[in-house]
Amino acid sequence: MKERRACIIGNWKMHGSAQMIRTFFAEFFAALASHPAALSGIEWVICPPFVYLPHILENLHQLNNLTHTVSGSLGAQNTYSEATGAFTGEVAPEMLRDIGCQWVIVGHSERRTLFYEDNTRIARKFLAAYDAGLFPVLCVGETRAERETGKTWEVIQRQLEAVFAIAPIESLTTAVIAYEPVWAIGTGLTATPEQAEAVHLAIRDWIAKRDPCLAATARLLYGGSVKADNAAGLFAMPNIDGALVGGASIIAQEFFDIVKSAKARI
Ligand code: PGA
Repeated sequence: MKERRACIIGNWKMHGSAQMIRTFFAEFFAALASHPAALSGIEWVICPPFVYLPHILENLHQLNNLTHTVSGSLGAQNTYSEATGAFTGEVAPEMLRDIGCQWVIVGHSERRTLFYEDNTRIARKFLAAYDAGLFPVLCVGETRAERETGKTWEVIQRQLEAVFAIAPIESLTTAVIAYEPVWAIGTGLTATPEQAEAVHLAIRDWIAKRDPCLAATARLLYGGSVKADNAAGLFAMPNIDGALVGGASIIAQEFFDIVKSAKARI
């Protein structure tokens, strides 16, 4: 038994519709009906676009009530760093909590590059989410050019330092860190289990320098082209505690199989 509970988070990005959600849960439930204990003990989360959060929550409640063994929960893909105010188009962490959301992704590379979120902005979002009682999923990772020029650790360290300069390291009791090499996101180019493990180990060492007890319990997820057929290899690594899954998380059977393959970690 590993002391860190496996955690699989589906990031739907800007995909989905009311109809797609009905189909997704019908298929997910059918998969579960034929393997009723497959997901027990594993934590899994779905992060849909904001407008579909209540739809997903309703389906998760139904699923959890029907099975009693499933522990699916709800996450958002983004939030803002203020609790309320004149911030047109933004959603506060408190609002996410208010509707039953538990998790929120912070610092995804698409937010960093397409929406110009820098380390300072990300750190403030992380802290606001944590203070509001959400579990932040902090994404860190290097671009291909940074990897090729040997800057992987330098970049990740900078991303971590920015956040934990203002947020307490104890936030890692509930928050998780997702290592997502930018070159592996949506490209089909997964990092090898060994490449991912090396970075996860470096992140764990970094945490250990600040709090040795937390280093043993903090959960580190891998993200970037995780699929049902490569998940088990990644989860077999000692420091990979789960995954942040994009494209494969909108296909019910595929997502179910990825969650199921984390069972080997229990
Ligand atoms: P991907 O996305 O699984 O489609 O590569 C991962 C992510 O962006 O979190």
